[in-house]
Amino acid sequence: MNISFIGSGNVGGTLAKKLFQKGHKVFFGVRDVNSDKNINLKKELGSSIEINSIIDSIIKADIIYLATPWSAVEELIKSISSHLKNKILIDCTNPLKKDLSGLEVGHNTSGSEIIQNLAPECLVYKSFNTTGFNIMEDPILENRKSIMFFCSNDQKNRSVVAKLIEDIGFESLDVGPLSSARLLEPFALLWIQSAYKFGMGRDFSFGILRRK
Ligand SMILES: NC(=O)c1ccc[n+]([C@@H]2O[C@H](COP(=O)([O-])OP(=O)(O)OC[C@H]3O[C@@H](n4cnc5c(N)ncnc54)[C@H](OP(=O)(O)O)[C@@H]3O)[C@@H](O)[C@H]2O)c1
Repeated sequence: MNISFIGSGNVGGTLAKKLFQKGHKVFFGVRDVNSDKNINLKKELGSSIEINSIIDSIIKADIIYLATPWSAVEELIKSISSHLKNKILIDCTNPLKKDLSGLEVGHNTSGSEIIQNLAPECLVYKSFNTTGFNIMEDPILENRKSIMFFCSNDQKNRSVVAKLIEDIGFESLDVGPLSSARLLEPFALLWIQSAYKFGMGRDFSFGILRRK
C-alpha cells in the first residue's frame, strides 16, 4: 500500500518508520524538501522513505496520514482538498489549545469533522490520536495490546484502516461515524493530562478488558 505522511515529527515519523518495516511504500509530504531538517531526514532514512512535496506525496498515495499541529490544519486542508478526492485520510491531529488546557473545538463538532467539511470528497478517518507517539512505537504493555480507536463516515475501507492499526501493534476498535471524533479528541486530552498533570508520565496506555 502507498502511504503518505503529512508531518514527519513525533507521530508521523514514528508511524511511517513502523509501516515501512511492515512492507508498505511510505512517503513524507513536506513543506520544504530542501530545508536543513529534511535534508538531514533524507540522510537518516536513505532510500527507505521518500521525501516529496506535499502534493506529490498525496498524488502517489492511497492513504494519507495527517500528523501536523492543529494550528496548521485548516489552511493546509484548504490548499490540498482538490487532491483528496476518494483518498483515505487518517487524521491523527488533536485540536489542542496551545497550553494543553483544553480543546479548541468540541461537543457539537470535532477537528475531524471540520477537515471533512473542508474536503467533502475525502474519506476522513480519525485515529492514532488517543495515545502518545512513544506508545505508538511499542503498543504492547504488560504483555497486552493497547487500544486504538477509529471512526469514519466511509463504509468501504474500515477493514483497511483496522489492518493498518494492527500493523502498528494495537488492537483496533471501530467506534462508528466520524462524529465519534467528538469523543476521541477529549479522550486524547485525558491521556495528555493524565501524563503531564496527574502524575502518570508518558509510559501508560488504555486497553480493553472483556468479561469472558
Ligand atoms: N506527540 C504525540 O505524542 C501525539 C500523539 C497523538 C496525536 N498527536 C497529534 O499529532 C499531531 C502532530 O504531533 P507531533 O507531536 O508529531 O508534532 P511534531 O513533532 O511537532 O511534528 C509536526 C509535523 O508537522 C509538520 N508541519 C507543521 N506545520 C505544517 C504545515 N503547515 N504544513 C505541513 N506540515 C506541517 C512539521 O514539519 P516542519 O518540519 O515543516 O515544521 C512536522 O513534521 C498534533 O496535532 C498532535 O496533537 C500527538
